[in-house]
Amino acid sequence: MPTPNPLSEPCVMIIFGASGDLTKRLLVPALYNLACDGLLSDNFAVLGVGRSEITDTQFRESMTGETDGLPKFHTRKAYDQPQADKLINRFHFQSANIAVEDFKKLKERVAALDVACGAQGNVLFYFAMAPRFFGPLCDTLHAAGFQDGPGWKRIIVEKPFGTDLPSALKLNDEILRHWREDQIFRVDHYLGKETVQNLLAFRFSNGMFEPLWNNQHIDNIQFNVCESVDVQGRGGYYDSSGVLRDMIQNHMFQMLSYLCMEPPGSFEADSIRNEKAKLLESVRVYKPEEVPQYVVRGQYGPSFHENGELHQPGYRQEKDVKPDSGTETFAAIKLHIDNRRWTGVPIYLRSGKALWKRGTEIVVTFKHPPVAVLRGTGIEKLEHNRLIFHIQPKQGIELIFQAKVPGPTLQLQKVDMSFNYGNVFKASRYTGYEVMFYSCMRGDATLFSRGDLVKAAWEIAQPLLDYWQANPPGDSFPNYARNSWGPPAANALVERDGRHWYEVIMPEVLERLPLFQGCEPMFLNAVIMSLQSRAFSAGETIIKAGDTAGEMYLICRGSVEVTDKSGKHLKHLREGDYFGEIGLLLSTPRTANVNATTQCDLFILEKSAFCRIMEDNPQFAESVATLAKERYNIVVSGTDLMHV
Ligand code: BG6
Repeated sequence: MPTPNPLSEPCVMIIFGASGDLTKRLLVPALYNLACDGLLSDNFAVLGVGRSEITDTQFRESMTGETDGLPKFHTRKAYDQPQADKLINRFHFQSANIAVEDFKKLKERVAALDVACGAQGNVLFYFAMAPRFFGPLCDTLHAAGFQDGPGWKRIIVEKPFGTDLPSALKLNDEILRHWREDQIFRVDHYLGKETVQNLLAFRFSNGMFEPLWNNQHIDNIQFNVCESVDVQGRGGYYDSSGVLRDMIQNHMFQMLSYLCMEPPGSFEADSIRNEKAKLLESVRVYKPEEVPQYVVRGQYGPSFHENGELHQPGYRQEKDVKPDSGTETFAAIKLHIDNRRWTGVPIYLRSGKALWKRGTEIVVTFKHPPVAVLRGTGIEKLEHNRLIFHIQPKQGIELIFQAKVPGPTLQLQKVDMSFNYGNVFKASRYTGYEVMFYSCMRGDATLFSRGDLVKAAWEIAQPLLDYWQANPPGDSFPNYARNSWGPPAANALVERDGRHWYEVIMPEVLERLPLFQGCEPMFLNAVIMSLQSRAFSAGETIIKAGDTAGEMYLICRGSVEVTDKSGKHLKHLREGDYFGEIGLLLSTPRTANVNATTQCDLFILEKSAFCRIMEDNPQFAESVATLAKERYNIVVSGTDLMHV
């Protein structure tokens, strides 16, 4: 049984920029979760600081509004009013500018709160303000004497930490002018994710995988952070950021260092952070002229309805974005880690907005076993074993390997062993900030970034920024359509090495087919495992009218044209679309042609695999038969579906 967690240490928490949205949406729900879980010390008070002239009561009311406060933003099943009241009654507000006189008054207020709640002199400063204020805040806090007296003083700094290498170094200098590194807690909310923290637990508390964790056994590693959302009205911020600064330099490099670092001497914060820094320092820093060889950038364009009308705007048409913006909303990068463990193992990273699905996953692909042993079996190619860390929205770990298909000859099929957080643990109700607050209140800096880590991460990113700035994309942007996988050049980056991006298909992607909408997760998972990938060249026929139907297709990359028997254009389909699913239900002649208009990567579900799933799970056969009638007006019986 896990031992109960101790309480957070007493403190007064000062939130600078408390009237902003972040406080209501994330910080207060996180404190509330800690309180509900019995992790927040009773010797605790919050002092919101901002320029607005509001009273404690008004501040409390603004945090608890039915439609824009804790009752709306809390993440628990039920709202616990007494618990919320108890927490919010510890909230106070003081108006202040960043000026020594104001901060001296603030100090008096903190001293009074400290006595009232018994915080033992401990103060936690939370900077929920734009980064340009971080330096002045640190200076003014120091000048007002906040470092004096008993107890600890710690500062939580929100991202972004700098906008490039020089600005990050400058910021580090400003913050560390009067404060010690062990007082600074730089937030990266990915480190607050259970699935990210579990990367370390997985690697270092299991004996089985670590011996394989090197260039002898691993072929390549892919990090995917795909977002289906666009910039969601944050164009003003995003246009001066881009995906490299927004996601890759921070969140993705944190995951990279956890996955690839050497074993730490202990699980102490600095032991872990030393190894993370060493790992990032081993990543090859490109010369700007090498950037086009290893990096692809992209920007999303608009999407249109079938009739040609605009559906959703492209990035350049988003609010507060420059109409000729060169900001990248997508990037794919090949990195090299030049140390003994990883030399020769390419690390591919890919992230973007307005992509066809949301999903963060890390795919570790192992080397092939020699195929010679299978001579004479008819099996010419073996699939790689893969270990997939599903970070979100699916949370789990999956091992993919080959198994023999039952029958008299040797045939192999991809199968998986899977661990799903939700099946084993109570699903986390957390926002990600709880563990950050809790760790900081207990002085544990493991989940926060350190100055040298931030520097090493910017050193890797800087040549990309330099090259991009010197070579604006101009008319080559936008270069990918909304809801696609990103620019085709991102595929070429990996295919040049004889590899592919490993696409993790989530059940919701399958659920776009009426046939699979609302089906049981177990069934959808069985279908996903049976999907086979196949590439078609531009111009190649995928389905010919008149041929007997026997499979369905899901377009992973590329586009196809559907024509009728006489060759008349019917429609275009592209990434994320599907076709031919009737072939799973009926073995009738195809009524249309489908030709690849570009090089296409498709997932195919063969009817034989589909029938096997039905045979193994007759309850699914009955429900698919019902769906076939309801959604396609096709009458088949469950028994029919079990036979090819
Ligand atoms: C933030 C970025 O840091 O992370 C956002 O600024 C991004 O642009 C977000 O959408 C993604 O976080 P998560 O937890 O949803 O993966």
